[in-house]
Amino acid sequence: MRVCVVGGTGNISTGIVKALQAFGHDVSVFTRGQNASRLPNGIRYLQGDRHDRAAFESAMQRERFDAAIDMISFTAEDAVSALRAFRDVRHLIHCSTVCTYGGPLLSIPADENEPLRPITDYGRNKVAADAVLMAAHDAGNLAVTIMKAASTWGGMPVIRQLAFDPMWIDRVRKHKPIIVSGDGENLWSLCHSDDAGVAFAAAVDRTACKGQDYIITGPRYITWQAYHERINALLGSRSEIVHVPADCLLDGPLASRCGLLSSQTRWNQCYDVSKAQRDMPEFQPTIELEDRVQENVDWMDRQGLIMNSDVDDIEDRVIAAQRRVAL
Ligand SMILES: NC(=O)c1ccc[n+]([C@@H]2O[C@H](COP(=O)([O-])OP(=O)(O)OC[C@H]3O[C@@H](n4cnc5c(N)ncnc54)[C@H](OP(=O)(O)O)[C@@H]3O)[C@@H](O)[C@H]2O)c1
Repeated sequence: MRVCVVGGTGNISTGIVKALQAFGHDVSVFTRGQNASRLPNGIRYLQGDRHDRAAFESAMQRERFDAAIDMISFTAEDAVSALRAFRDVRHLIHCSTVCTYGGPLLSIPADENEPLRPITDYGRNKVAADAVLMAAHDAGNLAVTIMKAASTWGGMPVIRQLAFDPMWIDRVRKHKPIIVSGDGENLWSLCHSDDAGVAFAAAVDRTACKGQDYIITGPRYITWQAYHERINALLGSRSEIVHVPADCLLDGPLASRCGLLSSQTRWNQCYDVSKAQRDMPEFQPTIELEDRVQENVDWMDRQGLIMNSDVDDIEDRVIAAQRRVAL
C-alpha cells in the first residue's frame, strides 16, 4: 500500500517507518525536515508544516495515498484537518495516548474499556481528536483506527519517574543519589519504539482494526525502583535511590520538575495489550532496557541532550531534607 506517515522521523514514528518498510509498503513521510537524517533509505520525503493546514491538506490530496498514520495530531482541529487531508484513503490510523484515561486507573491492568477521565490538557485534547475521528468512522466517511500509546522510548531522551529531566543521566553517571517517589513500587508500562512501530504498521491493511482503539505498550510492567536500578546498572552507576513521598515532591521545590509524577507516575500505570496482540499478532514486544539504553544515551550525548547536573542543587537539597526527616 502507499502509506503516508505524518511525522516519521520522531520517536515512535521512526519505528513505524522501519516496520512499514519491512512489511513491504511504499512509505512516504511528511515532516518539516528538522530530523531528515533519521530516515532510512527508500522512504519518500515530503516537506511541510502540518499546521499550515491548507498547504498540508492539498499536498496530501495530490498524493492519493491508500493509508495514512497521523502522529502529530493533538486537537480536534488537527483531526478535522486530517479528515480533509486523507478523505480518500482506505484507512487512517491516529496516534492517541493512554493519557486519555487519566489517573488513577480504575483497573490494573487497564484495557480499552477504561473510562476516559483525562487530567491534562494533552489528554483532554486527544480525547476530543479521537472523538472527531471515530464519529467520521461511525458515519461511514472514513475507516479509522485509534492507537493509544503508553510510554514509548528509544528515540527520545531516557525518562525518569519524575519527569523528562535533562540532568538525571548526568547525576547517574556521577553516582549522585536519585529520588524515586513513594516506596518505588508503583508500576509502569513501557515499550521500545521499534516494537510499538510494528503494531501501527501491522494495522494498516487489517480490516479487523478499522473502527477499533488499541492500547500500545509492552505486555510486562516494571516498578520504578526496578527501572532506576536497571538504568543505574546499565550505566555502571552506584547512585543511591532515595525515596521521597509524592506529596512532598509535588508541593516542594522540585514541583516544577515533576511533570510526569503529577500527571502519570504517582499512580500505577499498566495496561493489558491483549486486544492489540489479538488483532495484530505481529506485535510482540521483545526489546528490553538492557538491549538499547546505552544506544539511547549515546544518541542523547550526540544530540547534546544531557545537562551538567553540577549547576543545580535542588535535588540534593530535597534529598538532604528527606534524610533529616528520616533520622
Ligand atoms: N513518546 C511517548 O511516550 C508517547 C506516548 C503516548 C503517545 N505519544 C504520541 O506519539 C505522537 C508523537 O510521535 P513520535 O514520538 O513519533 O513524535 P516525535 O518524536 O514528537 O516527532 C514528531 C515527528 O513529527 C514531525 N513534526 C513535528 N511537528 C510537525 C509539523 N508541525 N508538521 C510536520 N511534521 C511535524 C517531526 O519532524 P520535524 O521536526 O522535522 O517536523 C517528527 O518526525 C504524538 O501523537 C504523541 O501524543 C507518544
